[in-house]
Amino acid sequence: MRKSIFISGGASGIGAASMALFLERGWAVCVYDLKISEEFARQYGCYGEKLLLIEGDTRDAEGVRNAADTAAERFGGLGSVFACAGVHSSDTILDVSEEALRRMIDINIMGTYHTLQACLPHIIAGGGGSVVINASDQSLVGKPHSFAYGLTKGALGQICKGMALDLASKGVRVNAICPGTIRTPMVDAIFARCSAQGLGSEEELWAEEEALFPLGRVGRPEEVAKLVYFLAGEDSSFTTGSLYSIDGGLTAG
Ligand SMILES: NC(=O)c1ccc[n+]([C@@H]2O[C@H](COP(=O)([O-])OP(=O)(O)OC[C@H]3O[C@@H](n4cnc5c(N)ncnc54)[C@H](O)[C@@H]3O)[C@@H](O)[C@H]2O)c1
Repeated sequence: MRKSIFISGGASGIGAASMALFLERGWAVCVYDLKISEEFARQYGCYGEKLLLIEGDTRDAEGVRNAADTAAERFGGLGSVFACAGVHSSDTILDVSEEALRRMIDINIMGTYHTLQACLPHIIAGGGGSVVINASDQSLVGKPHSFAYGLTKGALGQICKGMALDLASKGVRVNAICPGTIRTPMVDAIFARCSAQGLGSEEELWAEEEALFPLGRVGRPEEVAKLVYFLAGEDSSFTTGSLYSIDGGLTAG
């Protein structure tokens, strides 16, 4: 299979750590993200032709399709896609507005749909490859104050299984990762908001979070990147339709 991958949301957190690992191991990577800072582009500029950075929104079907076409042309095809872009919200059924719920569905579900639909023709044309979807521990268990986010991540788990069945005969494997809390800018922002609401200092909130995990800590983006790398490449050749927990034991009990 081709060692080239399209990563949505690859300019921060789990997506960026994955991008760095794939580049380090010689893959060509296209990052498609809402915002790509000049500093980020400078930091990884040394990868030259092996790295394509494209700003855009996964809600824009045409934008993602153009980006996937550009990446396939530059890299001579696409072997894998990591649909990673996503956002978080805190709400319950009692207080979530229809507008807020639709935004979550648009980004986390429709954005993933656009990304996969844009990349799959290239992966299939190259004889097959691998799809990795960034789901969540909330694809497996419920969490309080997470109505809209949980709904979207549950859907991604199901999308993974159904797609795996539809695409197996075309040589495409589809798996999802289900991370527990990983220390990224997304979660830092959530705790900063909670702290501003008077729920405790950010340090206290992180300590409470870490205590929830059997391994006694939250995860690092680099740890998740290694699982993404395994699933995207040929080392995972007999896996498809699976949801992989990477959560320090959180959902084991
Ligand atoms: N961090 C965690 O604890 C955790 C746990 C489980 C799952 N996840 C999932 O991992 C993914 C990445 O999260 P992260 O924690 O690395 O967050 P992050 O905020 O650090 O990175 C997300 C990236 O996605 C980009 N993005 C967001 N919406 C986009 C859109 N519509 N189009 C293009 N790019 C967009 C952002 O600009 C950002 O660069 C998300 O899908 C998230 O739900 C994260």
